[in-house]
Amino acid sequence: MIEIRGLKKRLRRRWVLNGVDFTIVDGESVVIIGQSGTGKSVLLKHIMGLMKPDEGSVLIDGHDVTRLEGEALLKVRRKVGFLFQSSALFDSLTVAENVALPITENRLDTGGRLLPDIVREKLHLVGLSEDVEALKPSSLSGGMRKRAALARVLAMEPSYILYDEPTTGLDPVMADSISHLIRKLQREAKVTSITVTHDMRSAYFVADRIAMLHDGRIRFTGTPQEIINSSDPVVRQFVEGFSENGPLSTV
Ligand SMILES: Nc1ncnc2c1ncn2[C@@H]1O[C@H](COP(=O)(O)OP(=O)(O)OP(=O)(O)O)[C@@H](O)[C@H]1O
Ligand SMILES: [Mg+2]
Repeated sequence: MIEIRGLKKRLRRRWVLNGVDFTIVDGESVVIIGQSGTGKSVLLKHIMGLMKPDEGSVLIDGHDVTRLEGEALLKVRRKVGFLFQSSALFDSLTVAENVALPITENRLDTGGRLLPDIVREKLHLVGLSEDVEALKPSSLSGGMRKRAALARVLAMEPSYILYDEPTTGLDPVMADSISHLIRKLQREAKVTSITVTHDMRSAYFVADRIAMLHDGRIRFTGTPQEIINSSDPVVRQFVEGFSENGPLSTV
């Protein structure tokens, strides 16, 4: 479980997060929406322990990542995978080497399993065949790079995965396949997911629950149906704005 309590963060003389309270229970898929610059990525960075708040806490399975340092922080952070907006694969390494990297870098215990077998399993999980293993990331399409980056995240066997704008910049077919993949990992790999997105089509598909970040706080939480039915003008403006010019908003 991830419990965000009274989280506040001031950046450039502005309270970007101004009292965020939100709980994500194990097994669910939560989507966070909100206007550009509202602090969605900043919120994800606090969950990862990459940014420290001015006030408040983030408990991951009871451990407060805002107060941990060093090895203790790393131990909790290993439970949380982060798919960055840019795939952040190393172009000098092959796809297989990229996927294996978190295991070798962190000297993770593989339980006697061979590295190439684990790499292949993770690639299969994201729908990539062994044909890509020897390729460099630069020779893959955008959608395949996203999948390979996700395979690398999965190599850590995370309990939670944070996805920052996973479908941005992808064509609609590729975007849908990534949305399906997020759901598949939730079901098959029992990953609890938090997805930040501008893409309402993806949000409706991926979310058990949608939360809207607005003026530094969670303005709304509810199921996709509840957000569609919401009479809150701020929610309506956001949801309708994006449905009217949906294809443009993802460019
Ligand atoms: N490291 C930083 N130092 C100073 N200001 C920052 C830093 N990171 C983010 N900010 C500021 O915090 C605010 C929120 O940024 P954030 O990237 O979280 O927005 P976002 O909701 O993810 O937007 P987008 O939808 O465009 O990705 C912005 O005003 C940004 O300029
Ligand atoms: Mg962002």
